[in-house]
Amino acid sequence: MLNKKVEDICNRQVEREGYSASLYLAMASWAETNGLSGVAGWMYNQSDEERGHMLKFIKYINERGGKAVIPALKKPQAEYKNVEDIFKEVLKHEEFITASINEIVALTLDEKDFNTHNFLQWFVMEQVEEEASVRIILDKLRLVGKNNMYEFDRDIVGLRKSASNATNKP
Ligand code: FEO
Repeated sequence: MLNKKVEDICNRQVEREGYSASLYLAMASWAETNGLSGVAGWMYNQSDEERGHMLKFIKYINERGGKAVIPALKKPQAEYKNVEDIFKEVLKHEEFITASINEIVALTLDEKDFNTHNFLQWFVMEQVEEEASVRIILDKLRLVGKNNMYEFDRDIVGLRKSASNATNKP
């Protein structure tokens, strides 16, 4: 049975993963309406992954005798200056999510909740992968420069995979 503190912080993460899904959908929509179908595809895919993360938390909370709460989500930013601006925001957001997961890990140690600690290990590794893949994209963006978005938009389709190969995707 989850204790209340662990249940509450896991529900906070349900909201954060849900917001991540929503944020990346807003970015996908921005990219799609600005002629960047490769970037839009990356964002739609990322949004699906975030929904998957939210579901993992929902199911885990309920399985352990808690009650997952489906939250209202705030409206994500709809307008962006350019693609670099978007991916800088993604990195900032993923760093925030990593810190958030780490806080839950720390609480599970304080509370001696080793089941939840174990459940979180997948997220710890996933955050390593997510941050790495966004850093690769930002490096690539610096290389191609702002004037060659066509090339970047075409190449981003393969970037997620190459980052994933470097770490342990389950
Ligand atoms: Fe679910 Fe991108 O962290």
